[in-house]
Amino acid sequence: MRERAVIAIDGPAGVGKSTLARRIAAELGYVYIDTGAMYRAITLRILQGAIDYHDSAAIRALLDIVHISFDPEGKIFLDGMDVSDTLRSAEVNALVSQVASLPEVRERMQALQREIGKDGGAVLDGRDIGSAVFPDAEVKFYLDASIEERARRRLSDGKESVFVELEAIKNDLARRDTADKERAHSPLVQTKDAIYIDTSGMVIENVLEVMLRYISGRSVG
Ligand code: DC
Repeated sequence: MRERAVIAIDGPAGVGKSTLARRIAAELGYVYIDTGAMYRAITLRILQGAIDYHDSAAIRALLDIVHISFDPEGKIFLDGMDVSDTLRSAEVNALVSQVASLPEVRERMQALQREIGKDGGAVLDGRDIGSAVFPDAEVKFYLDASIEERARRRLSDGKESVFVELEAIKNDLARRDTADKERAHSPLVQTKDAIYIDTSGMVIENVLEVMLRYISGRSVG
């Protein structure tokens, strides 16, 4: 039995999960684990090493030596180097869904996520937290929003270059939705016990309020 809760936040790209997960963790004094950043870090390492991601022996060898960790502020380190700011490059964006669909990568990342969160007091955001990483999480959310709304948010939050048109962002989100939902290993699914929130038309503060109210109703924190 964990003394403090594990809070799982899943949903498609661009729905506001990381902002909300970070805010909830700060509010409760929990650690925040950005699992997408872990898949991005492995992707960055594959690019740096010019490794062919189809070569499963090379990927397994890399997974045996690579070291990924977080500091208390949520910064992510790859082999001791702070890579928090390099994980959102166009090169990483283009390859990360393929890397995240490799079973050996998923198994290793999921094991690491379970290890970091095993004592509770953790908020994890991703695609498979409530379904595969912590199916026994005390609180599970599934956040959703229309593709138009997610694309508009991406454009205004500066995560995409201003030169990227709304249509191009929509196409990229659609491509990533398909990759996340249709991969064979731990795809994005909404579990029956997850609280579903459609955040279309809601400001982040309202979503946060709804989530915190639900968490305090579950007497965790
Ligand atoms: O949330 P994000 O955009 O940073 O995620 C990056 C990629 O990693 C995206 O292709 C989905 C994938 N991902 C995943 O498969 N499972 C997770 N738990 C988190 C992210």
